[in-house]
This record gives sequence, structure tokens and C-alpha cells, in this order.
Amino acid sequence: MRRLSAATAVLLVASQAIAHDDVMLAAGRIFKPIPSATPAVNDNPVTDEKVKLGKMLFFDPRLSASGIISCNTCHNLGTGGVDAGPTSVGHGWKKGARRAPTVYNAVFNVAQFWDGRAPDLKEQAKGPVQATAEMNATPDHVMSTLNSMNVYVAMFKTAFPDSTPPVTFENVAKAIEAFEATLTTPAAPFDQYLNGDGSALNDQQKAGLKLFMDKGCSSCHNGVNIGGQGYFPFGVMEKPDTKLRPTADKGRFAVTRVASDEYVFRVAPLRNVALRAPYFHSGQVWSLKQAVGVMGEVQLGEKLSDKEENDIVAFLNSLTGQLPKIEYPILPTRTNETPPPSL
Ligand code: HEM
Ligand code: HEM
Repeated sequence: MRRLSAATAVLLVASQAIAHDDVMLAAGRIFKPIPSATPAVNDNPVTDEKVKLGKMLFFDPRLSASGIISCNTCHNLGTGGVDAGPTSVGHGWKKGARRAPTVYNAVFNVAQFWDGRAPDLKEQAKGPVQATAEMNATPDHVMSTLNSMNVYVAMFKTAFPDSTPPVTFENVAKAIEAFEATLTTPAAPFDQYLNGDGSALNDQQKAGLKLFMDKGCSSCHNGVNIGGQGYFPFGVMEKPDTKLRPTADKGRFAVTRVASDEYVFRVAPLRNVALRAPYFHSGQVWSLKQAVGVMGEVQLGEKLSDKEENDIVAFLNSLTGQLPKIEYPILPTRTNETPPPSL
């Protein structure tokens, strides 16, 4: 067998390093690492007092009519910020039409919900409390509940010193938004790679990243959240099976009423995607590899090979970041004034 001369071997290694550097450079133009600091949100300075209160509200099931459903029921922070799926089950065992998206890194999305109908986390937070298939409560129920416990009233006063009265539905939403802004997951292997550490991804993950860019996945899934920025039809090249894209849910059309928005959805953010099967707004695909295959077919019109799918999945695994350590909050004790649950 012929041996490579030392000089050839050095050249070969150097050219591979350059190829990898090219991938890193291209990736740096398309994606952004998750910042290590808590991001700012519009019109709502994120203070420690709001975060502490928002966290308690996020975990407090008494905000729901039944007293048993909290935000964390469907956005379980121990399971990637989502529920077990496929679609969420809320008040009275009612099944919702869509899969719960994760609250981790939601602060980076251009708008909230699969169809982007809420402009930010503040507006979003007002929805689930009142939705019949979620918490089925009213702002009045939430106000009476919170006002019945002195600990909460005092915390609202500290978090919103300029607000009279301190306990308002708007402030509930602001406190929850402040807490959600802290739910970011920096320092994934991919972030380390974007920050210049070429060894943070293994060879298969680098191959997957290259495919993700070369095949065109990154034309939709890009930026800090690897998605969450734009809206595209689910089914650009081919119509997905009606199991994956039920006919009744026309996505963004319900928001804009523009015919071209039928079956258009917000590009799913792919941060921590490996933690939160099942996939798609219908929650019908349980394997990430299969979800990648579906995307190849319906968005790109291309049947990806087994190896390509595996490489892309390996890359997607590198998007799992460091989840914040969350200590379960001890909630104020109910009083005689606290409204009883209604099931
Ligand atoms: C969507 C937070 C309660 C199920 C969302 C989103 C956020 C969020 C931030 C949008 C994420 C994104 O678009 O990337 C909250 C908060 C809650 C709460 C703060 C408590 C006040 C619940 C509950 C359920 C639930 C109790 C289940 C019964 C869902 C579903 C969606 C969603 C299915 C997607 C709906 C759609 O796109 O139309 N939630 N959530 N959430 N949440 Fe919640
Ligand atoms: C959803 C990966 C190409 C737009 C998803 C999901 C994955 C994924 C894993 C599911 C995430 C979740 O449920 O949390 C990929 C890969 C691609 C690719 C590997 C390349 C092979 C594209 C392209 C577009 C796009 C080119 C835009 C034309 C979307 C949209 C969704 C989505 C709109 C949400 C679909 C829904 O309504 O459930 N993608 N994607 N993707 N992707 Fe892609």
C-alpha cells in the first residue's frame, strides 16, 4: 500500500480544517448563538421581583378554574417545556387541536403560537388562562384568587411599585413574561461551535450541519432559535398527510384571512428539538428522524437518504442547550376568600 508522504498528509489535514472552517463561517452567517444574559423584552423591564413572582404564577394551578392545571402542566419545564402530547389536554379532559410548543427560548420567536397570533409573551399569557380547552378561568377568577392571599398581594406591590392596584391581569401577564424571558438554554454544543470551538461538534454533526445548510433547511430554520422567525406553508412542495396537517386547522389564515396563508405556520424553532417529541403542530410524529424525512419531502421535494437523515438528526442533537436549574416554588397557602375549584 502506498503511504502518504508527510507533506501530503499535512496538506490533507489542513484542507479538511479549511473545509470545516468554511462550514463554521457559513454557519456564523446564518445562525446566532443564544446569548448568556437574559434578553430584554418590550415595554417590561425584567427585574428579579417580577421573575420570582412570574415563576410562582407559572407553577400555580389555582389560576385555572379546576385548580389542577398550571402553565407547567402543558409546558413542563422538566420535559423540554412541553407536555406528553400529541396535542394538549386541558380543562375537563378537553383535547386541544395543537401540540404545545416549548416555552424554552420562546422569547426569541418573532411572535407566539404556531400561527403567530400573539405578538409577544405578555399578550400570549392572557390566552391560556381563559381558553376553555386549557385553564378555563376568567380574569376575575384570577384576580380574586391572587387578592385572597397576602403573600401574592405583597409580591405584586414589590414587583410593580408604580401600579395601583398592584394586582391586575396585565401585571400577571408581565410577571409571567419576565419569568419566561429567563427560560433560555445557552451553551449547546452548536453555540460553542458558533463561538469558534471547532471541536464542539463531532464529524457526523458537522456533516449534518452542512447538509442542513446545503439542502435548504436553513433557508427557513435560521437565526438564534433555528426557526421561529418567519411563516411558510407546511407543505411547500408536497401536501403532508392529513394526519400531520389536519384539514380543519388552516394555520395563519385564521389570523390574516389572506388565501395564500392557508396552511401556513410559523417555522418551528429547533432549539432542544431532541427533547420534545412528538413533532409538528399536530404532534403526530414521534421520531425526530421521521420528522426530518417529512420535512425533506414536503418542504424541499427531496427524499433524503438514510445516512442524510441520520447526519441531520445528529446535528439537531447538538442544539440541546443547558436548561436553567428551576427550584419548584412553594406557593402561598389558600385562605377562606380563595375561590374553590370548579371542575
Ligand atoms: C402556546 C405559555 C398554559 C397549551 C404557548 C406559548 C407560550 C405559552 C409562550 C407559545 C409558544 C410558541 O409559540 O413558541 C403558557 C403560559 C401558560 C400556558 C404562560 C399559563 C398561563 C397552557 C396550558 C396548556 C397550554 C394550561 C394546555 C392545556 C398550549 C398550546 C399552545 C400553547 C396547545 C399552542 C397553541 C396554538 O398555537 O394555537 N403557551 N401556556 N398552555 N400552549 Fe401554553
Ligand atoms: C417544522 C426540520 C426544512 C418550515 C420542522 C420540524 C423539524 C424540522 C424537526 C418539527 C419541529 C417541531 O415540531 O418542534 C427541518 C429540516 C429541514 C427543514 C431538517 C430540511 C431537510 C424546512 C423548510 C421550511 C421549513 C425548507 C420552509 C419552507 C417548517 C415549518 C414547520 C417546520 C413551517 C412547522 C410545521 C408545522 O406546522 O407543524 N422542521 N425543516 N422547514 N419546518 Fe422544517
